[in-house]
Amino acid sequence: MAEGAQVSDGAAVGDHEQHVDEAGERLQKLLAAAGLGSRRTCERLVIEGRVSVNGKQARIGQRARPGLDRVTVDGVPLPAMERFAYYLVNKPVGVICSAPGPKARKSVVELVPQSPRVFPVGRLDVATEGLVLLTNDGELAYRLAHPSFGVEKEYVVRVAGDLSRDVVNRLRRGVELEDGMTSPARVSVLGPRAMRIVIHEGRNRQVRRMCEALGHHVVSLARVRVGPLVAKGLAPGQWRRLSAEEVRSLWEATAGSHLAGEPTGPGASAKGRTGA
Ligand code: URA
Repeated sequence: MAEGAQVSDGAAVGDHEQHVDEAGERLQKLLAAAGLGSRRTCERLVIEGRVSVNGKQARIGQRARPGLDRVTVDGVPLPAMERFAYYLVNKPVGVICSAPGPKARKSVVELVPQSPRVFPVGRLDVATEGLVLLTNDGELAYRLAHPSFGVEKEYVVRVAGDLSRDVVNRLRRGVELEDGMTSPARVSVLGPRAMRIVIHEGRNRQVRRMCEALGHHVVSLARVRVGPLVAKGLAPGQWRRLSAEEVRSLWEATAGSHLAGEPTGPGASAKGRTGA
């Protein structure tokens, strides 16, 4: 019989827990490093019963192993920064979001470090500039891209021809496209031929098709916000790593808005996963 196979009582389980406790970092240190506040504040989160490790409510003094144990606060996972990489790129026009291929065009994937391998969350057209998140965190990527989680994407669009009040109102109400009606968009007019549009769906070339369906060719399109993340300080072609706090803010952006009746996990449906 293999060593340890007979261990099936409470004492053995307790031994294992003790080992786990001693192996990792103190919870309040991990929580503080993830941007949840000072160590004292984080200790209070544990005392208030808001922290769990591997699905069990954490207790004060407990440790967790970064990248191995699943730590959640109010049910929201702490980003395992050691295992996952998160980059925010300001994609220039002319760069593609699909995987690098033999063709001459550069892929957004080639703009960031090559290890660990990361992939873009959603896609921007080759002619669209702006924010693309790259990560190897599949669960977060799924939530950010799936329309049912309602994560906002904000675009600045310049069109040919002056915008009428009717066109702006129709964009706000939703536009009939060949793949169905779009959800209502938030639109603010920036000038006679420029708008800011906020959507949360991820249809292919959605903003361009919405404008073109209403008779306006898109002259330029830039994604300036993904959920809580904005382009500030990132020139086209530049990238930066997300802070732990920013990763957490992305999880929060996906946490409360999941619509009833929609698929709930990465394997639930491929529909809508191509991003916004
Ligand atoms: N909508 C578009 O039309 N293109 C993009 O790249 C993103 C949204």
